Amino acid sequence: MPQLENHQITKSPNHSMFTIGVVGAGQMGHGIAHVMLRVGHQVILLDTSQAFVDAGAKRIIKGLARDVEKERLTEGQREQAVKRLKATTEAADLAAADFIIEAVTEKFEVKVGVYRSLEPHCPPGTIFASNTSSISITRLAAATDRPGKFVGLHFFNPVAVMKLVEVVPGLQTAPDTVEQATALATSAGKTPVRVNDFPGFVSNRVLMPMINEAVFCLMEGVADAKGIDNVMKLGMNHPMGPLELADLIGLDVCLQTMLVLYESFHDSKYRPCPLLEKMVAAGWLGCKTGRGFYEYPKKSAVS
Ligand SMILES: NC(=O)c1ccc[n+]([C@@H]2O[C@H](COP(=O)([O-])OP(=O)(O)OC[C@H]3O[C@@H](n4cnc5c(N)ncnc54)[C@H](O)[C@@H]3O)[C@@H](O)[C@H]2O)c1
Repeated sequence: MPQLENHQITKSPNHSMFTIGVVGAGQMGHGIAHVMLRVGHQVILLDTSQAFVDAGAKRIIKGLARDVEKERLTEGQREQAVKRLKATTEAADLAAADFIIEAVTEKFEVKVGVYRSLEPHCPPGTIFASNTSSISITRLAAATDRPGKFVGLHFFNPVAVMKLVEVVPGLQTAPDTVEQATALATSAGKTPVRVNDFPGFVSNRVLMPMINEAVFCLMEGVADAKGIDNVMKLGMNHPMGPLELADLIGLDVCLQTMLVLYESFHDSKYRPCPLLEKMVAAGWLGCKTGRGFYEYPKKSAVS
């Protein structure tokens, strides 16, 4: 279990530094917390159980140590960053946050449940941001008590490495909220790109149909998996082939995103490839299960 002292976190005295509440200590939440701490913000990390917050804090502390190894931080800066982290299971502890970034399970009801639990504690001026990949920001905003102060902040995985953040205003989001969210992403060393609220934003709207089409190519025997990936790597200069990437993302996530696009646009061009559906039904989800379009020895499987 990580050794975290229970530091008192108050509003940051430095005007350019904020207290960020990060809800969800999983893959994305721990990464978002890590990059925020690295640049000097305070972070209050919330999850549903002590075990989850401890696991998230442990990954953050490991990430900060890696920053020292890579000379992105000095040892002194790392120590200070760890001190700026508070991990909790109590929504009331996020009352001190200037911004809340929600990175919980990709289910509308779960996310709205989080906002409900925070609303009584967070002043009306506190901005709520969601890291959702596919749920409408307009719909999420409408379910809160602060639609003008609600925005999408879509970070990419792994957060510590990927430069892009899609900043997604809902129909109701106030211009000032967009500006502040953009400034926060910039302060974390990211490159924010403003994208309007349509299903899949830009990233998944372009990426997932490409992956889906690659699966169609495989199903129809146009080429084998390696051949398809090589065409895209060597001919298009993509760092990874679409099928390798699908394995990394998780085939269940790819299928879920295609279904969101299909159901949202009512357009058959987004229909999931039957082979993708079949592989998900078989539990061949990619790296995380050891088998997808490729096989992964247990040791290197991504959890
Ligand atoms: N994984 C990716 O590549 C990726 C990329 C971009 C965006 N996203 C989005 O980020 C969000 C999180 O995805 P993830 O991959 O980090 O998921 P994850 O499963 O790794 O983490 C989700 C965390 O949320 C916690 N949680 C669930 N309900 C909660 C609640 N009521 N209160 C507090 N914590 C709660 C879970 O315990 C878990 O620790 C999703 O909306 C997802 O669509 C994911």
